Amino acid sequence: MKLHCIRCELAYGSDQIRYTCDCGGLLEIRREVRGHRAVFDERRANSRKPIDQSGVWRFREGVLNVDEAQIVTHPEGATRLYERDGIFFKHEGENPTGSFKDRGMTVAVTQAVRLGARAIACASTGNTSASLAAYAAQAGLRAVVFVPSGKISGGKLAQTLAYGATCLQVRGDFDAAMHLVREACDQLNIYLVNSINPFRIEGQKTIVWELLQDLEWDAPDWIVLPAGNLGNTSAFGKALREAYEAGWINRMPRLAAIQAAGANPFFLGYRESFEARHRVTAETVASAIRIGDPVSWDRAVASIRDTNGIVEQVTDEELMDAKRTIDRMGIGCEPASATTLAGVRKLRAAGTIGANERIVCVLTGNVLKDTDAILRNVPQEQIVEIDPRIEDVASALR
Ligand code: F0G
Repeated sequence: MKLHCIRCELAYGSDQIRYTCDCGGLLEIRREVRGHRAVFDERRANSRKPIDQSGVWRFREGVLNVDEAQIVTHPEGATRLYERDGIFFKHEGENPTGSFKDRGMTVAVTQAVRLGARAIACASTGNTSASLAAYAAQAGLRAVVFVPSGKISGGKLAQTLAYGATCLQVRGDFDAAMHLVREACDQLNIYLVNSINPFRIEGQKTIVWELLQDLEWDAPDWIVLPAGNLGNTSAFGKALREAYEAGWINRMPRLAAIQAAGANPFFLGYRESFEARHRVTAETVASAIRIGDPVSWDRAVASIRDTNGIVEQVTDEELMDAKRTIDRMGIGCEPASATTLAGVRKLRAAGTIGANERIVCVLTGNVLKDTDAILRNVPQEQIVEIDPRIEDVASALR
C-alpha cells in the first residue's frame, strides 16, 4: 500500500505524514483490492463484532491494512436504503454523528493514532467538524476545527462543541478556513483530516460498496450525490473502479454529481470538459456545500471521466423544493443532501436519465443538522400558537 501522486505518479510510503506530492498533486492510496462479496455478506448477516457491524470495516480488505485492535470505530455506516417512488435513497444521515463524514473519519482517526498524532484538525462547514470531534473524543486526541464564522448551522456548531473540540471561528468563508488549516497543520504538528487526506477517501468509498451490497451487488444505473469539496465525488469513482476490478460488480454505474448553482465551480469546469480549474465566491442556502474552491478537484475529475459521469447544478429553490419532498416522505435530510433529488428531476426532464433507469440518491446529512432551514420555510397554517382552550384547538384545525 503506497501513496501515489495522481499527477506525476511519484509514490510515498503510506506511513509518511503528507497530503500532497512535492509537485503539488493530490495523493491517492493504491493497492490491489482483495476481499470477497461472500465474506462481506457473511460478516453483515451473522457477526456481532463491532468491526463487522461497521459498514466501513466490514470491507476492511479494501479500506486499510491495520491491526484490528488499532481501529477507532463507533461503529459507523450500516445505514438504510429506502425505496420511494421508484428511487433508492441511501441515508448517510443515519451515521453516528448524523452525516457520511463518519465513514472517512473512522479511517483517518485510526491512521492518526497509528502515526502517533496528538492533535487533529479540519476546516469545515459543520459536518466534518462534528465527526472529527466525536472520533477525537473516542481516541483521546485533541480536536481543533476551523469554521467560517457565523456560516455554519447552529446544530452543527453545538454538536462540535459538545464533543469537546476547540472551535476557531475564522472571519472569512470555508475556502479561507481550508487554506488556514493546511498552513496550521504544517507548522504546528497537527494531523489534517480533511478529505484532502487520502485515508478519508478510503473510508468514504464504503458508501458505494455498502449500497451495492444493499442491492445484492446488482449495480444501479446511476449514483447521484451532492458535490462540495469533492471528497465524496473522488471516493465514489475510486470505489466503483475498485469494485469493478475486484469483480464485485459487472458493470459501472454512472455518477451524477450535483452542485448548488451559487457554489458551482465543478459544474463550470465540467461544461468545458475540465480544461481549466474554476473558483467562485460561493453563496447558497445549503451551507454544507457553500464552497468555492474545492480541494479534491483532480481526483473528482477522474471519477467523472472513469464513470462516464456528469455534473449538474440546481438552484436554491429547486433544492429546497426537493428537500420538502424528501422530508414529507418521512425520511428527511439537510438542504445539501436534497440537491440529489433536485438533480434527478432536472436530469430526467432533460432526458439524460431515462424513466426506467435505477437510481440511488445519497442523502449525506440528517434532517436535524439544519433546523433553521426548516423553520424559515414552514407554512403559516402548520404552526399556530394558541391559548390552552379547546375552542382555540378547534379553530386552529379548521
Ligand atoms: N453533503 C453534506 C451534508 C456535507 O456536509 C458535505 C460536505 C457535502 C455534501 C459535500 O461533500 O465535500 O465531499 O463534496 N461537508 C464538508 C464539511 C465540507 O465540512 O462538513 P464533499
